[in-house]
Amino acid sequence: MTQPAKITEIAPGCFNLRAPFTILAGIVDIGTHMSFIKLSSGKFVLLSTVQLDAQAKKEVHDLTKGGELIEAVIGTNPFHTLAFEQFYELYPNAPFYGTPRHIRKYKEIPWAGSVTDPAVLTRWAPELALELTQGGEFDDPQPESTNHFAGVVAIHLPSKTMVVDDCFRVSKNPGIIERGIFGRRDMEVSFHWSLYNDALYKTPSAVQTFHDWVLHLTKTYDFDNLSTAHGGILIGGAKAELVLGLEKARVALKKMAVARGGDLVY
Ligand SMILES: [Fe+2]
Repeated sequence: MTQPAKITEIAPGCFNLRAPFTILAGIVDIGTHMSFIKLSSGKFVLLSTVQLDAQAKKEVHDLTKGGELIEAVIGTNPFHTLAFEQFYELYPNAPFYGTPRHIRKYKEIPWAGSVTDPAVLTRWAPELALELTQGGEFDDPQPESTNHFAGVVAIHLPSKTMVVDDCFRVSKNPGIIERGIFGRRDMEVSFHWSLYNDALYKTPSAVQTFHDWVLHLTKTYDFDNLSTAHGGILIGGAKAELVLGLEKARVALKKMAVARGGDLVY
C-alpha cells in the first residue's frame, strides 16, 4: 500500500517535511520539521534538516532532482543539528550554511558560509527574507540544554509563509496542561518558554529589543501562514495570531524588563 506523501506543499512553493523527534529519553515525540523553499528560478533553499527514512529520502530526491536543484541547505536553529551529517552524506555537493554552532560542531562539512553574515541573510531577498531573532544570544546560547530560542526566521514572500523552529510556536490540539494552565487554544501562537528565563540577554534593553523585533516582522512582511518545528502549521491568519501572542505576553515581558532594570514601552 502506498503511504501518504511525507513532504507536503503547505503553500505554493513552500514544502514542509515533518519527522519524529523525541525528548525525555524517547518517551515524548515533539516532532520537528524541515522546509523546501522553491525559488522562482526553480531551485530550492532548504531550511534545516531532519532525519530521513527511506520514503522521505526518495521524496527529497524526487523533489530536488537528486539534489541538482538544491541551491542551499541552511541551519536555522543552533540546536537543530542532529540530521546535518546524514544530509551531507546524501548531498555532499550542496552548499551548506550554518549557525556558528553548526559550523563549530560539524567540521567535516565544508560550510559555504554562516547565517550571521548579512550577505547570506539577504542572498535570496526579496523572495525569501531571513532574519535572526533579536535580543538574545545566537552564537553560543546558554544553558545549552534549555535555551533553544534563537534562530533564523524565514519568510517566503510569494507564498506568504513564515517558517520558524523554536522561538514561535503554533499550539496544535493543545492538551489539558497547555489548555488548563496556559490557557492556550488550538492554533494559538505563543513563544518558546525559555523566553521567560534564559533566552534574552539579562540587560535593561533586551526585552524591548525582542518585542520591537517581533513587531518589525509583522509590519515589514506580508505573511498569512506559519510553520513551527515542535508545534503545528497555521494556514491563514498567522500574522494576527502572532500579534495576539505578543499582546498576551506583554504583561510578563514588562515585568521581566523592569526586573532587569529596564522597561517595556508599546
Ligand atoms: Fe527545537
